[in-house]
Amino acid sequence: MERTLSLIKPDGVAKNIIGEVIKRFETAGIKVVAMKKLHLSQKQAEGFYAVHKERPFFKSLTEFMTSGPIVAMVLEGEDVIAKNRKLMGATNFKNAEEGTIRRDYATDIEKNVVHGSDAPETAAFEIAYFFSTMEIVG
Ligand code: CMP
Repeated sequence: MERTLSLIKPDGVAKNIIGEVIKRFETAGIKVVAMKKLHLSQKQAEGFYAVHKERPFFKSLTEFMTSGPIVAMVLEGEDVIAKNRKLMGATNFKNAEEGTIRRDYATDIEKNVVHGSDAPETAAFEIAYFFSTMEIVG
């Protein structure tokens, strides 16, 4: 069993597709073992995306991520990091496969509806960034 962090970004929450995203996870046999809705501060967004701090899109990305509420979830399942990334589709929705969340709902490379951890090490950091162990109920 593996765990990963999933975020529904401000554009996804504004589009009212929280349920749609969760339905796709559950249909794929993925379990939601923790969930909360929150509005990130600029500092919190910068801390979460610290690996991208030298990238040209960092300021815009962190401002976007603080522009409205988000939903954070811990997902659990076999090979869930890769499974979640397959369900999300490529970062740039223009390259995302048909039937993926980003292909269906993203409007640009930044406003791409969802985030998912890309490896076990990042998943461990990202899950701990949002949830304490007591908040994760498998
Ligand atoms: P995410 O998977 O959350 O990881 C970093 C985010 O930066 C990415 O999704 C996009 O929302 C955003 N982003 C904006 N521009 C780019 C870019 N050129 N390449 C990658 N990510 C970008």
